[in-house]
Amino acid sequence: KSHEKAENRFNNRFQFVAIVTASTDGIGLAAAQALGKRGAHVVVSSRRQANVDKAVSLLRNENIEVIGTTCNVGNREDRERLVNMAVEQCGGIDILVSNAAVNPFFGNILESTDEVWSKILDVNVKAAFLLTKQVFPHMVKRGGGSVVFVSSVAGYQPIFIMPELRTFVKTALLGLTQALAPELAQSNIRVNCVAPGIIKTRFSAALWQSEEVANEFLKLLSIKRLGMPEDIGGVITFLCSEDASYITGETITVTGGMNCRL
Ligand SMILES: NC(=O)c1ccc[n+]([C@@H]2O[C@H](COP(=O)([O-])OP(=O)(O)OC[C@H]3O[C@@H](n4cnc5c(N)ncnc54)[C@H](OP(=O)(O)O)[C@@H]3O)[C@@H](O)[C@H]2O)c1
Repeated sequence: KSHEKAENRFNNRFQFVAIVTASTDGIGLAAAQALGKRGAHVVVSSRRQANVDKAVSLLRNENIEVIGTTCNVGNREDRERLVNMAVEQCGGIDILVSNAAVNPFFGNILESTDEVWSKILDVNVKAAFLLTKQVFPHMVKRGGGSVVFVSSVAGYQPIFIMPELRTFVKTALLGLTQALAPELAQSNIRVNCVAPGIIKTRFSAALWQSEEVANEFLKLLSIKRLGMPEDIGGVITFLCSEDASYITGETITVTGGMNCRL
């Protein structure tokens, strides 16, 4: 019965609420946009108020129902404020897209410090889990929901010139997806993951700004162009929709054909 209820909810427009973290630029913004176009009431956030304001007005101009707040996902009070805001202003939570990542370190892994490890684990992995835990009771109240983590192709296999410290936390998200899926399925909540390849955003600028480096990457691809944030936004929306109702614990690679697993 609760499954039927959830199905109706996800099929109807303007009846589900989606929190997308780190959603004022790049992949997060594209995910918020794609979910909003499918009718989600979207809650956008990132660390800087000016970026939040800009994203909210951009999405409102596209007739997307959206609210926004600042939220550094590594900060507990910020996460609580984000979740409370969604519940109070949108009436509940159906979807969580956990997209934030930081890379506080470039260089040889052996030179990374205790502080670097704490930060990278807190923001990239722990926050993804803690946010899931925070939204869980609200999804249960709605009869189900969907969680999507944003990992990376580098979670399968470190890519040349990519700082390797960043890659292992992306591998951790693949494991977290599989670990959470059976437990949350009991509450009709699906947990999935996307692993983007090289997507043209500010975050990855070092990988595409130089034509020489970009050309090296293109050699690894079947589709000879870099990915765009919208390429990922659509897949995230699919994973959150009823079209993906039988998919959980899964990671979809969206790489233009970069070979990273069987
Ligand atoms: N681009 C790629 O090629 C690629 C490939 C594989 C995976 N990914 C993954 O995709 C995700 C998004 O990356 P992107 O390329 O879309 O980045 P982006 O275009 O640079 O956007 C990053 C967004 O994250 C926000 N942000 C940064 N740190 C945050 C924090 N601690 N808490 C909350 N928000 C934060 C930024 O806004 P503020 O500055 O206002 O906080 C901004 O909205 C990351 O998880 C990344 O690892 C990207």
